Amino acid sequence: MLTQDIVLNALKSVKYPGYSRDIVSFGLVKNVVTNQGAVSIGVELTSPNREAAAQIKQQCEEVLRALPEVQLVHVEVTMPPPQPGSAAAGPNPWAKQNKVPGLARIIAVASGKGGVGKSTCSVNLACALKQLGARVGLLDCDIYGPSIPLMMGIKQRPTISPQEKMIPPSNYGVKLMSMGFLLDGDQPVIWRGPMIMKTIQQFFQSVEWGELDYLLVDLPPGTGDAQLSLCQTVPLDGGVIVTTPQEASLGVVRKGIAMFEKVNVPILGLIENMSYFTTPQGERIEIFGHGGGHAEAERQNLPFLGEIPLYTEIREGGDRGQPVVVTSPTEPPGRAFLSVAEKLQKLLQA
Ligand SMILES: Nc1ncnc2c1ncn2[C@@H]1O[C@H](COP(=O)(O)OP(=O)(O)OP(=O)(O)O)[C@@H](O)[C@H]1O
Ligand SMILES: [Mg+2]
Repeated sequence: MLTQDIVLNALKSVKYPGYSRDIVSFGLVKNVVTNQGAVSIGVELTSPNREAAAQIKQQCEEVLRALPEVQLVHVEVTMPPPQPGSAAAGPNPWAKQNKVPGLARIIAVASGKGGVGKSTCSVNLACALKQLGARVGLLDCDIYGPSIPLMMGIKQRPTISPQEKMIPPSNYGVKLMSMGFLLDGDQPVIWRGPMIMKTIQQFFQSVEWGELDYLLVDLPPGTGDAQLSLCQTVPLDGGVIVTTPQEASLGVVRKGIAMFEKVNVPILGLIENMSYFTTPQGERIEIFGHGGGHAEAERQNLPFLGEIPLYTEIREGGDRGQPVVVTSPTEPPGRAFLSVAEKLQKLLQA
């Protein structure tokens, strides 16, 4: 029988023109009605773009006609009228978001709670992707404790271009912008919601990122309102969840999954960090239990991107500002990150 689910599933193959994300994950498909062999859907664009509308309509019709049992297809694409005087009527599926020119993929790294090694993973993955030949940027959106400049060994702040844009400093071939660059010393800052949003928007509008294959975004720990509105402000293509074995077993991972689902950001996979510890004698000690991440990924039907064991070198590298994947890419800790990066890249190229 033809159901709404079947229709929505089929429509997931229709990408928003110019994006890697599909129209279903963008939340644009409304009013799916099926009646025997007839199917009718509405697609609501949030910005006026005739070209995108026509393309989406045609592709939806093709995909739906190809479904068994379907005899009649009706696709209605609606969009708001162009704003008088506004030049920015580009292909923008969100009202407030713009696809950032030059940034091919924007990927968030999140976790259910703090201290699971999210920033460590972001830094090492960014450097690993760079080693795999990609052009990479890193955006540290941690408003509570921006730690990435330290981990990347970057002390200089952004400079200003003649066009009055911020030029991100870089190290190990990775460009970096951080909330930390905008704070003064160790002063704790109380960010208010609108201030955060404005700052994050500036990270896209006023930063000269150049051409990047990947921009990794380190989100603040947790899955509350702050994280949620960040996900809505940044035009994300996908999310990665970092977990520890015990976090997985406590069900915290599900909060992260729910957060991405709420904002229609596809989850690319799960990384289990601090998986196990190997003694100098080669004995493997599973401090937090082991395999929780893998099992949770399977339960949630998500790709498992790999496990990163506990290594003193990983923490030391972070403290020194020399990520382990840069200093020892062929040793086990570095190899672990490279393997996760390879998996991620494969998933994104698929
Ligand atoms: N696999 C690992 N082996 C050894 N130490 C690790 C590993 N992963 C992270 N660490 C260390 O654990 C500490 C916390 O890591 P990190 O700052 O990356 O976590 P986080 O999730 O970003 O934390 P926060 O929630 O504060 O942002 C750091 O000192 C880091 O060096
Ligand atoms: Mg962190």
